[in-house]
Amino acid sequence: MGTDRTGEPLRVGVLASGSGTNLQALLDTVHGEEALIVGVAADKPGAVALERARDAGIESAVFPLGEHPDRAARDSAIAQWLLERDVEVVVLAGYMALLTSPFLHRFPGAVLNIHPSLLPAFPGVRAIEQAIDYGVKIFGVTVHFVEDDGGIDTGPVILQGCIELANADDPATVHAQLRPLEHALLPEAVRLIARGALSRDPQNPRRVVVAQ
Ligand code: GAR
Repeated sequence: MGTDRTGEPLRVGVLASGSGTNLQALLDTVHGEEALIVGVAADKPGAVALERARDAGIESAVFPLGEHPDRAARDSAIAQWLLERDVEVVVLAGYMALLTSPFLHRFPGAVLNIHPSLLPAFPGVRAIEQAIDYGVKIFGVTVHFVEDDGGIDTGPVILQGCIELANADDPATVHAQLRPLEHALLPEAVRLIARGALSRDPQNPRRVVVAQ
């Protein structure tokens, strides 16, 4: 990844665990344009994301933890599957398992995640519930790089968006209101990477600089 892209579509692999609406947003926008989604892998056989991949004619595979000796072995199998498809960027689109260090080292600076909070607030699971419980008035979503930094949802921020919801008390309602933001920001991040428009501030590599 970087600024030396040749104009070929960015080869993207997607990991998902659930309903796959973010995968669908990628399929409906950047797929076949700036990017090509060349494989969708899930950790759960029932992930609806797998059906979306099949419907779009994209190769898919399931890697249940129980079929591997441990997480590292499972991640190694996923990485191998992605590398066989020449994946350049891995998008975590609702992938709810933690990735082990060797996986991240096989795709350096090329794994991104979407998270339903304004990071660094409310990382990890049940982010929207955490935000409601805290009583925030502004809810948001973050697209960020995933790095081997020992944290959860701690990688450098690429894009964020927010909405004001003064009296939010229902996670499902908030999630529904965040969906359009997610479905716009994740494709936009992929578009920016495909265009080579993202770089790091040399003074502070946590700062992702977006070329105008
Ligand atoms: C999305 O809201 C995404 O932000 C969240 O899971 C949902 C997946 O929806 N991800 C996380 O919470 C990661 N910590 P989808 O399967 O419909 O794309």
